[in-house]
Amino acid sequence: MRRLTARKAGYFMKAAIYPGSFDPVTYGHLDIIKRAAQIFDELTVSVLNNKLKTPLFSVEERVNILKEATKDIANVKVEAFSGLLVDYAASRGIHVVIRGLRAITDFEYELQNAQTNALLSGGALDTVFLTTKLEYAYLSSSSVKEIASFKGDISMCVPGFVARKVYEKFGYESGKWGNLNEQQN
Ligand code: PNS
Repeated sequence: MRRLTARKAGYFMKAAIYPGSFDPVTYGHLDIIKRAAQIFDELTVSVLNNKLKTPLFSVEERVNILKEATKDIANVKVEAFSGLLVDYAASRGIHVVIRGLRAITDFEYELQNAQTNALLSGGALDTVFLTTKLEYAYLSSSSVKEIASFKGDISMCVPGFVARKVYEKFGYESGKWGNLNEQQN
């Protein structure tokens, strides 16, 4: 109750950034987004515009897909960023980064990134890890793209509207593989 009053008055507003490539967003990402949005007052899902990588979807497409996929979560916003995460976070006045951890194989890379960001920001940017739900531990955007490229079923990995867009990118008729409904767990 006290927290609600404080929140109304504008105190204790805790904001976080969930950065990533999201090429494309998976049910694993969406699960992290939902849970982080319950912990923080405001969550910004930030899509990296990385000139060094050749993504399947443009940054605008990824932002729009994420907006559609998170449209029912009131305290989530989606935007693109480029450059260093620490600079972007500082420009938004945000001090917390969310990252999902699937397995021990993620840990080393994530630890290195978290420590680098803490160092680069002079301690202003901390990383909070959420462990991925077990049922999504196997999921990655790369495997979604690989499965789809071979006309495999990705309906258990991404929402139906995302699956259709992925198949279309590979020049396949959408809706032909798997049960492409919008159901999310
Ligand atoms: O979904 P991804 O590709 O694992 O996300 C990686 C991401 C976007 C979080 C990371 O590459 C990043 O923050 N890039 C921005 C550039 C930067 O700040 N690099 C230094 C971090 S060590």
